[in-house]
Amino acid sequence: VSTLKGKHFISIDQLSNDELKGLLAASHQYKEIYSDKSKPLPRPLNGHSVSMIFQKRSTRTRVSTETGMSLLGGHALFLGPSDIQLGVNETMRDTASVLSRFNDIVLARVYAHADIIELAKYSSVPVINALSDLHHPLQTLADLMALQQHFGTDLTGKTVAWVGDGNNVLHDLMLGSVKMGMNVHIATPKGYEANADVLAKTIELAKENNCQVVTTNVAEEAVKGADVVVTDTWVSMGQEEEYAKRVKEFEGYQVNTELMGKANPGAVFLHCLPRHPEEVTDEVIYSDASLVFPEAENRMWTVMAVMAAQMGKV
Ligand code: CP
Ligand code: NVA
Repeated sequence: VSTLKGKHFISIDQLSNDELKGLLAASHQYKEIYSDKSKPLPRPLNGHSVSMIFQKRSTRTRVSTETGMSLLGGHALFLGPSDIQLGVNETMRDTASVLSRFNDIVLARVYAHADIIELAKYSSVPVINALSDLHHPLQTLADLMALQQHFGTDLTGKTVAWVGDGNNVLHDLMLGSVKMGMNVHIATPKGYEANADVLAKTIELAKENNCQVVTTNVAEEAVKGADVVVTDTWVSMGQEEEYAKRVKEFEGYQVNTELMGKANPGAVFLHCLPRHPEEVTDEVIYSDASLVFPEAENRMWTVMAVMAAQMGKV
């Protein structure tokens, strides 16, 4: 994991299989250490700080990073869309140059992935992508950690089925899943497929890791043989105007008890949250098969591991 030292964390693609597994191992360790507050907590990031630029809303990413940084002994600053000059009076380039003078890490949630690239280009300290229109690598770490908690550390040979929009959350999840040796089944409606370059990269990695990637437009086909069923909102932040059109075009993609019943016995359900009722029923999200709340909790243990690794402490 030490190879993340001083580096940006932009997508799961950049991690070797071992780096990914190392970050997950560190996340499990942090959960163990920092869950017990009766003992003095280690403060490896004492004196460190992270600026958190948020151009979109967030519950999990904001609270997990802010709380996680404080547990590690450092400080986090929340910079919402109307808190700083960025976008109104100041460019990403100048913002990057200035924040790098104050902070040890800059985390950002943006609309266009190009903005993360721009931030990383001009930031002299490590950047964390906290969601762009193309990638959500922090989410994948939390998802894989939840699967390890449920199935054990070795996830080789398990099958993950994505049912829904070919979006940012899927992109890192499919890259991460094949790096862990898992098969990936993807069902998206026509016109909502995963990004072609990310899919090509996933297929290439799957070959190297002896696993399979299957794409389809039929939800039932994807969940067949699946140990994990995953979805996300059909209407990502910034797509609100397409709401009516999307809900219509995603008909048949709702994860409900009937669809879960077509997956392998004992299959579990993941969702990055926040969720809407159209993509998953209450019955599924509050069922024993649902790992969504441990998954949410893991956002903290995993971002702690990423920040500590970037600072050379893992
Ligand atoms: N899953 C996730 O990133 O949630 P937030 O939008 O609440 O940060
Ligand atoms: N796909 C969603 C994820 C939110 C955490 C979005 O981009 O809004």
